[in-house]
Amino acid sequence: MKFFVDTADVAEIRELAETGLLDGVTTNPSLIAKTGRDFLEVVKEICAVVEGPVSAEVTALDSATMIAEGRKLAGLAKNIAVKVPLTWDGLKACKALTSEGTMVNVTLCFSANQALLAAKAGATFVSPFIGRLDDLNLDGMELIREIREIYDNYPALQTEILAASIRNANHVKESALAGADVATVPPAVLKGLATHPLTDKGLEMFLSDWKKTGQKIL
Ligand code: G3P
Repeated sequence: MKFFVDTADVAEIRELAETGLLDGVTTNPSLIAKTGRDFLEVVKEICAVVEGPVSAEVTALDSATMIAEGRKLAGLAKNIAVKVPLTWDGLKACKALTSEGTMVNVTLCFSANQALLAAKAGATFVSPFIGRLDDLNLDGMELIREIREIYDNYPALQTEILAASIRNANHVKESALAGADVATVPPAVLKGLATHPLTDKGLEMFLSDWKKTGQKIL
């Protein structure tokens, strides 16, 4: 499973990119607004930090303007994935932009039928929002499983499932178990995936015993 980070905070992205384990970035208008920075500038900066896909979202509601905005965003860098909402106008824009060779991430997906339409529109990625369904006591992970089953029924569908709206480490694990192609993870959750108290305790014990040998490797 590929790991994307869900943020527009360049410092966080840079720190995670240095691990060599970061496969891409997703942003959205709320994450951009949180930076207080110019949208196009921050997206260009992010594209220079990571080689993988960087999602930047259009803000128009009609397909013609979405396409124009998408073309402008795609012109910022070769690794831009234009984000469009899962609406009929978004699907039309997706079809047009992907036909021009632009990566498209169809976002705000909350049903399997929406995901099926995104794949038919040629989406590079579809972003089902797990956490926002869970917030309503619905089953966000069931949506990932349904999309995986449907896409696997039709090998011609090439769209990657980009598990989004991830709230915790269990969402990451369950997304991997369900066969999501990508998980886009908030920085704090992503950093937390590597930690475990028994790892810390075991390492402390190893080094304590090693210190008693008086030896050094270098
Ligand atoms: O950026 C797309 C998605 O991951 C945002 O989800 O629910 O954390 O705003 P949320």
